[in-house]
Amino acid sequence: MKVQKAAVIGAGTMGAGIACVLSQAGYEVLLKDVKQEFVDRGLQSVKRMFDSRVKKELITQEQADRLVGQIRGTTSYDGFEQVDLVIEAALEQIAIKLEIFSELDKRCPSHAVLASNTSALSISEIAAATRRPERVVGLHFFNPAQTMKLVEVIPGVRTSKEVVDQMLELCKQWGKEPVRVEECPGFLVNRVLFPYLNEALYVLAEGIADAEQIDKAVVEFGLPMGPFTLLDMTGIDVCAHVTNFLYEEYGPRFEPAPVLKGLVEKGFYGQKSGAGFFVHSRGQVPAKDQPKELNPELKPLLAAARGNGHAVKRSRQFEVYRVILPMFNEAMYAIEENVVDWEDVDTAMQFGTGLKRGLMSLAREKGFAWILKELETYQEYYGERFRPAWLLRKLVRGGIHDFNSLHSAPVAAR
Ligand SMILES: NC(=O)c1ccc[n+]([C@@H]2O[C@H](COP(=O)([O-])OP(=O)(O)OC[C@H]3O[C@@H](n4cnc5c(N)ncnc54)[C@H](O)[C@@H]3O)[C@@H](O)[C@H]2O)c1
Repeated sequence: MKVQKAAVIGAGTMGAGIACVLSQAGYEVLLKDVKQEFVDRGLQSVKRMFDSRVKKELITQEQADRLVGQIRGTTSYDGFEQVDLVIEAALEQIAIKLEIFSELDKRCPSHAVLASNTSALSISEIAAATRRPERVVGLHFFNPAQTMKLVEVIPGVRTSKEVVDQMLELCKQWGKEPVRVEECPGFLVNRVLFPYLNEALYVLAEGIADAEQIDKAVVEFGLPMGPFTLLDMTGIDVCAHVTNFLYEEYGPRFEPAPVLKGLVEKGFYGQKSGAGFFVHSRGQVPAKDQPKELNPELKPLLAAARGNGHAVKRSRQFEVYRVILPMFNEAMYAIEENVVDWEDVDTAMQFGTGLKRGLMSLAREKGFAWILKELETYQEYYGERFRPAWLLRKLVRGGIHDFNSLHSAPVAAR
């Protein structure tokens, strides 16, 4: 697919980053928002992003000026009759997205592909607001969009294979690592990541390890930061919203740890509110190795959570696999449902979360049988959150060690 002109809807955090990606691809970009002040703020972010690349000597000042100059801010749809691709990154509200896509459908040429960067809404529903659902697709970038490599490419029920293939190809041209993911709540990365964050909260409330110990164990395992640092950075209110959404969609496996609600009610949102699991200087991003101060007000909240149906019958000593295996298990559920190819899981998790040691590599190391046994033991202790994916049982019964060995197994075992 040849793109010369592109447009981005929404000049916020994601829209500005996506505009940078498209400008770097050599396109003329329209960056649209509802008010001039939001457009200006977006253009300033774009400028800052390219300036920082100049500072790092990745591009020259002339290149930065040209890249900024290729992006034109606007509050109207003028010029959209010439675009080949639109990526929408407006607010995460279905009514807003439906209105935008219906308008885009009227304004853009019939060959244009209309993409949404939604984190959780249905691509099929968004596509149904247009007369070209076969040319509507999800392109889920990760924050910051200009540097994070993963893009989840999500077809809706009526998206054409041609458009999906074109988007996979375009993402590669932009230097991204695209992974095709079928539409499902949380798509792949958030669906896999949230059971891990949630389990870390259960461990904390159980009192068998503190936030610092859990974070440390996870970093040693291979994630760039621990769950509590990530929760504080992302915003505990945002994470509580996503966890509740996934629970509604998938049921008991995602039952939110009660302590999350308590934190939100107290206004402990993390970095942005000055305190979450750790205490922060408001608005300041902590240096990577800076020692962290645990939020002293967490103790009574955790005690309350324990008294509030959170007590466990018996405790198993904390090991990092308690929080890692829920990720693995959720990835297996996604593979079982044909949401993703097993070969793509490690790419998605590596480029979407920075996980150095892939989940499927973990299977290679430990074997499906060990993982199943661990999940079953955790299920005995902690219940439904650890119910193993049926696919995992099938593979173990078939004597398969991991997916790589499946390819060399006798045909009858595949
Ligand atoms: N922030 C993240 O980490 C992240 C990651 C992946 C995906 N997303 C998704 O990307 C989208 C944008 O998120 P964000 O964090 O950039 O939000 P944001 O609040 O920073 O920016 C949204 C922008 O959209 C603008 N907007 C609202 N209605 C509009 C309309 N009708 N037309 C044009 N612009 C409009 C707002 O004025 C605002 O500037 C959401 O769907 C979100 O779920 C966010």
